[in-house]
Amino acid sequence: MPTAEQSIADYVRLLDPAVRANPYPLFARIREFGPFRIGNAPVVIVPTHAGCTAVLRDPRSSVDRSLARLQLGSMPIYDAAKTTAEQAKPSFLFLDPPDHTRLRRLVSKAFTPRVVRRLEPRITEIVDDILDRRAAAGTFDAVTDLAYPLPVTVICELLGVPLEDEAQLSQWSSVLARSLDPTSRDAAQFRIDPDELQRAGTELSVYFEQLTERRRATPGPDLLSELLAAEDAGDKLSHDELISTCALLLVAGHETTVNLIANATLALLRRPDELAALRANPERAQGVIEETLRFDPPVQLIPRIAADEMVVDGMAIERGKLVVLLVAAAHRDPAVFPDPDRFDPTRDNRHLAFGLGAHFCLGAPLARVEARIALTRFAQRVESPRLPTDPPAYREHMNLRGPAHLPLEFAAILPR
Ligand code: HEM
Repeated sequence: MPTAEQSIADYVRLLDPAVRANPYPLFARIREFGPFRIGNAPVVIVPTHAGCTAVLRDPRSSVDRSLARLQLGSMPIYDAAKTTAEQAKPSFLFLDPPDHTRLRRLVSKAFTPRVVRRLEPRITEIVDDILDRRAAAGTFDAVTDLAYPLPVTVICELLGVPLEDEAQLSQWSSVLARSLDPTSRDAAQFRIDPDELQRAGTELSVYFEQLTERRRATPGPDLLSELLAAEDAGDKLSHDELISTCALLLVAGHETTVNLIANATLALLRRPDELAALRANPERAQGVIEETLRFDPPVQLIPRIAADEMVVDGMAIERGKLVVLLVAAAHRDPAVFPDPDRFDPTRDNRHLAFGLGAHFCLGAPLARVEARIALTRFAQRVESPRLPTDPPAYREHMNLRGPAHLPLEFAAILPR
């Protein structure tokens, strides 16, 4: 039987890039023990499906990091409070009602399933163009060439961000995504450089300040121009809120769907029967995507702050405690998912990959459509793909986790 000390040690090991390729044995042992505290730090880890679900549904669960009673000590913690306190204005991901409700409503109409369906032809075109180029080049890295540029192109077009700025944007975005990882102040190798983080946040804000000025002069058919109109219309959206909303959408569009497409491609390459079944029947893509979201979630943990006392899985959590929901552990909880380590696209899937409740992922319909088109076109057009190196190299990010590269061998890329 695992112990609390072992769970803390396992949690620290999760920070180590050496376990990035397969953290699931650690998650399994942590979940078996159940919720635990990180020593004297005001942090509780929740690894069960019932516990994560209860916290996400509980109105006492806040995302306002200023409520967290974190004294930054020696223990590995989810170092959230500090990073956002340094930012001028948190995005609505880190706001409670009523500000959250008002800001989310302003952008939600750009991401409804109906609006997203209208993007399908453009998404298909982007994917087919990529595959045409790889056919001509004769090389194919499923991350660098497909999983990354697809969502990035789509979010830049949606927002109205010039694609030629992409090299700079991807660098800021990657640094900001690291701020969602737990850190250890003591263990230098697990520390995130606060100056680098601050710089990336400031530079991205300045970038959007300048772009906003250009769009104000020349509005386009994009979300940024729409948000500007909302700002101009009165008190719906302040200027700071406009900037932080753009930054949130840009980072969300850069750092999440890439991992879904990459993790799903990896799952299919490891299971040639599943890949063949998808090629024969594109309808299977939906099951593959939902199972990837459970089996290998692109977002591995979700933080909350207890705005009041609550009890989770029998553990009392005091006000001000940071509650770290280990979604990646909950997704292999045998109490909810029979035979949880088996990749089964046909299973009944109550995963929490997009969260739950008020902050449920706004981009979920878009991510699902992008992944469906990428996977079906990949299955149909790339003949006999093979991964020469398995496991692949992973990005350093612990929370927004995924392969850095998936260089493939293949027989041919068929014309569209
Ligand atoms: C597979 C891809 C994605 C995954 C796994 C994912 C996951 C998540 C999760 C877990 C949350 C909830 C966080 C919380 O409760 O604290 C969230 C929120 C959010 N996501 Fe996504 N996301 C994905 C793609 C996207 C895309 C493509 C966009 C849009 C560009 C997006 C925009 C957002 C926004 C704006 C929120 C904040 C919602 C709120 O606070 O009300 N996401 N996402």
